[in-house]
Amino acid sequence: MDLGISGRKAIVCASSRGLGKACARALAEAGCEVIINGRDQKKLDATAAELSNQTGGKIIAVAADVATPEGQKALLAACPAPDILINNNGGPPMRDFRELTRAQLIDGVIANMVVAIELIQKVIEPMTQRKFGRIVNITSSSVMAPLAGLDLSSGARAGLTAFLAGVSRTVADKNVTINNILPGAFDTDRLRGTLSKNAEQKGKSITQVAADRIATIPARRFGDPAEFGAACAFLCSAQAGYITGQNLLIDGGTFNGAF
Ligand SMILES: NC(=O)c1ccc[n+]([C@@H]2O[C@H](COP(=O)([O-])OP(=O)(O)OC[C@H]3O[C@@H](n4cnc5c(N)ncnc54)[C@H](OP(=O)(O)O)[C@@H]3O)[C@@H](O)[C@H]2O)c1
Repeated sequence: MDLGISGRKAIVCASSRGLGKACARALAEAGCEVIINGRDQKKLDATAAELSNQTGGKIIAVAADVATPEGQKALLAACPAPDILINNNGGPPMRDFRELTRAQLIDGVIANMVVAIELIQKVIEPMTQRKFGRIVNITSSSVMAPLAGLDLSSGARAGLTAFLAGVSRTVADKNVTINNILPGAFDTDRLRGTLSKNAEQKGKSITQVAADRIATIPARRFGDPAEFGAACAFLCSAQAGYITGQNLLIDGGTFNGAF
């Protein structure tokens, strides 16, 4: 399927690894020029080379912390008027909510809510003027079904979701869409880190902890980041202009509800 976005410019935040990288790859495959980002310059450069070799697309690497004003400035300097913005960032570590300090609470809200809103503020006017814009926010299935220890992540991302639900309706007539993708358990470094921590806490092997988790997923496997990237690219396609303000849960059927 031709997604109709060849030649479009895309910023994909936090994309040197994992789900962000998979989105960057899928957009490059669709013919977009892609700005990728991460804090570790070496890993980022390796990803840029890999994606450019695999897709033949133009990949620009911007090493920066997306949570900081300087990081955002660097991203927008590389691409001042993107057609596509994928908001992503690292998630906070698992922590009992009782232990969270005021500063940690505020940092968590900045990382998983404020940063995405700030970037949208900066890119949305040119999108509305050009009558094309696609914004996808990577949130989490924990917005719909809480995960103990990830309360800050769930709360900040739910705040982002509610905030943008209204905003998305104000730009839909300009062919600018804003949607969220909610990952369940995808096979990335982050998931492997969580499994390893769980294994340590429970005194089990990582293989056992992974098998226990997979047993709770109706699809009986972890998600492949490529599946996530393909869904993201579709939401950025020309054909997806009538889909906005939506939450796409990709979790192998884990959330047990009819709606
Ligand atoms: N994987 C899952 O199963 C899952 C499920 C639910 C929600 N999520 C959420 O989805 C998001 C992506 O997860 P993932 O599994 O792809 O994580 P990952 O494998 O750990 O990759 C995270 C990526 O973000 C970059 N990054 C982190 N903090 C950054 C910052 N401040 N500025 C710029 N880049 C930054 C990392 O590069 P550097 O470290 O070099 O900066 C890396 O490229 C996270 O918010 C996560 O909480 C994931």
